[in-house]
Parts: sequence; structure tokens; C-alpha cells
Amino acid sequence: MRRRPLIVGNWKMHKTIAETRALLRELRAAPLPPGVEVVVAPPFTALPAAREELREGTIELGAQTMHQANHGPYTGEISPVMLHELGVRWVILGHSERRAYFSETDDAVAHKVRAALAHGITPIVAVGETATEHEEHATLTRVTLQARAAFAGLAPEDVGRCVVAYEPIWAIGSGLVEEPAGANAVIGSIRAAVEGLEQTRMLYGGSMKGENAAALLAQPEIDGGLIGGASLQAASFLAIVEAARARAQTP
Ligand code: 13P
Repeated sequence: MRRRPLIVGNWKMHKTIAETRALLRELRAAPLPPGVEVVVAPPFTALPAAREELREGTIELGAQTMHQANHGPYTGEISPVMLHELGVRWVILGHSERRAYFSETDDAVAHKVRAALAHGITPIVAVGETATEHEEHATLTRVTLQARAAFAGLAPEDVGRCVVAYEPIWAIGSGLVEEPAGANAVIGSIRAAVEGLEQTRMLYGGSMKGENAAALLAQPEIDGGLIGGASLQAASFLAIVEAARARAQTP
């Protein structure tokens, strides 16, 4: 079965409500290539406005993180129930910025994956190695450990309902990109490390732009992209979405 290309915009801590509406109007006005699935993940505060803007059209709504409990004494947190109510059907979990700055652990990611699936929200599980791990050739060890931990104990069919994003930390926001063949090899290794990932969509993230997207998306294992900086302007995001057209058309 062919895996449908998926392009996800992770807006991180960018865009007010007004800016969100403006960007989504631009995105909605553009003809999107058939067969390419497109998701945007604005900040929590902009989700209701984003939902309104996306009511017509095919772009779907994601969140950048969530708590695993349905409700409770967790000051500042947002639950899967709350996200689902807002029309959110995707959530990025275990992003390296969450792991580094907000102490998100592999164990927490595993709980969140289960909670998201239980609420009909597709987890996009982010894994990736640091610059030091990269230099020390510890990439495969790191990312397979993270992937195995995130999906530990899940039935293979549930693993197959998730998405994985390989984001080398040194490539995020740096302008440095992993070589397409190298990213392909890492993603292939992750796929092989966990039962159920055979048909799971696997994304590359880290300085993906219109200029390098086609080469990355031509790789057999890379089903799409998780885009930070280039998702903040319509033209640069749409260039990546457009680059996925060829992949969607490959039989
Ligand atoms: P950049 O595309 O800005 O490198 O960010 C990648 C990322 O972290 C997406 O989640």
C-alpha cells in the first residue's frame, strides 16, 4: 500500500490570532496538490481561530504538544479531550524542544501516544540525535531507543496509526540539512526497529525548505516533512507542499 505524503507545519511559538488567520487565508487560497495531506500546528491560543479558517478545505489542524490525562491538577497543561473538542486531529509529541526545555521524557511521550490514539488524535512522534551524538555516530542508537520507548507495549496495528518525524537536532533552525540519502537510511532503520512501523508515515524535519524538499521527498523512506521556519510564510510552506506532488503521483 502506498503511503500518502504528509507535510506538517510546526509553527512553534509564533503567530497571534490575527497572524494565524492571515496565513491560513493565504494557504487556503492556494490550490494544493491532490494526494498530499497538509497539517498545520499553530499555538494553542490560535486553535479556535484556525479551526474557523480551515472549516472549508482540506488542511487539517494539529497541536504542538499535549498532556496525557483527560483533566486534573496540571496547571498550564492542555488535554486530548480539549484538543479534540477544538477539531485537533494531530499532535506533535516528543519534539526535541519539549524534551530539552520542558523535560519531556521518553516515558511521558509513551503515555501521550496512547492518550492521543485513545481520543482519535494522530500522534506525530519526533525523534532525533544531538550534534554530539551525530559526530559520535550514535544517531541510530539514539533514535531507535526513542522510537522503541515511544511505542513500547503498543500493538503493531496501533503503531501503524501513528506518524514518526526524524529531526536531527543539529539541523533544526540551523540551515544545515541531513543528506537525503543519510536521512533515508536513518528513517529506514527506525522503521525496521519497531514492529508496526512498516506502513507508518515517516517524516524528515530540520531546515527543510522549498529548495531541498524535492530531493528529500524523492527518497523511498521519507513520506513527508515536519517544517518549522519555512511553515511561517505561505510561499515557503507551499513550495514544500508542492514538492510533495511528485511523490503523491508516484504509483
Ligand atoms: P526548522 O524547519 O525551522 O528547522 O524546524 C524544524 C522543526 O523543529 C519542526 O518541528
